[in-house]
Amino acid sequence: MTGAAVRVLQKVRPGVECVQADVGGAALRAGKPALPEEARALCDRSDAILFGSVGLPEYDGKPLSERPEYALFLLRRDYELFANLRPVRLFSGLESSSSLRPELLKDLDLIVVRELTGGIYFGKPKEQRTGSDGVEEAVDTMFYRAPEIERIARVAFELASKRRKLVTSVDKQNILETSRLWRRVVDRIAPEYPGVRVAHLLVDNAAMQLVRRPAEFDVLLTENMFGDILSDEAAMLTGSIGNLPSASLGRKGTPGRQFGLYEPISGTAPDIAGRGIANPTAAILSAAMLLRHSLADEAGAAKIEHAVEQAFAGGARTADLVQSGETPLSSAEFTDRVLNFC
Ligand code: IPM
Ligand code: MG
Repeated sequence: MTGAAVRVLQKVRPGVECVQADVGGAALRAGKPALPEEARALCDRSDAILFGSVGLPEYDGKPLSERPEYALFLLRRDYELFANLRPVRLFSGLESSSSLRPELLKDLDLIVVRELTGGIYFGKPKEQRTGSDGVEEAVDTMFYRAPEIERIARVAFELASKRRKLVTSVDKQNILETSRLWRRVVDRIAPEYPGVRVAHLLVDNAAMQLVRRPAEFDVLLTENMFGDILSDEAAMLTGSIGNLPSASLGRKGTPGRQFGLYEPISGTAPDIAGRGIANPTAAILSAAMLLRHSLADEAGAAKIEHAVEQAFAGGARTADLVQSGETPLSSAEFTDRVLNFC
């Protein structure tokens, strides 16, 4: 779907140079590592990364370092892309594709702020091994240090101060030590933003509230794995996981010109790969986020978002979004509709 995003990007900003490199499954299949050196070198000299999706069932049995996902893991880690923004927005006309009743979706406009370089994804030890009694065992470690929480909390509070001024911080502080630290640090940062309210929710309750009263959320701040899970849930409010873009930002660059990685929130869809029917919305909206955060082009970003809105309003739907009786558009046809409004 990155091809669709590139078409839109180049229409809106013809001067942008887009260079492609294989990572993940494409690189592994060519006998290379998940993140080949040439891809990394290209990322080093780029302003931003527009990322496709990773994941292939044929690598399911392999260790992480031999799986497609490792490319993403390395890029997030090595560029310290700690702030993952996942806006959840319901386009007008898609209400009936949502998993929820339309009346619950009125005014839905939330953003998940997911910590992306810490927690159980990265903590050590992280391994499968044999215990001293010969029994197979495995360990992942959920680990956070206060500064990691402070910096992501600030991102959430900053965003909220420009939105509806509510940060809902999600943790599991009744059980997890990392969550107790998380909550304490968030509360410590909160007074720096006197105009912003902070609420805390346990993650199981947050999962429930997201389908009970989703429109009440503004900024949902959470750690790496909880954010992974809750953002897939939130995506279904919008009708399809294929609708949700994301931006992963770090310390490189300056505000408005931050280096970032932009990608759909979903993995691959191997069952439909190559058929030309996937929904390119998430990729296209990721390109909009790229313009906004890495190229200081708010007007270009808004133009793309508006074009997607217009395409949906005009009835354009890919197969994941059609209702019975409607004819789905292919990925390319949908992209053409978006391009018409750019
Ligand atoms: C996401 C994805 C990734 C994650 C996978 C592909 C490793 O699910 O970005 O949400 O778990 O972070
Ligand atoms: Mg995910």
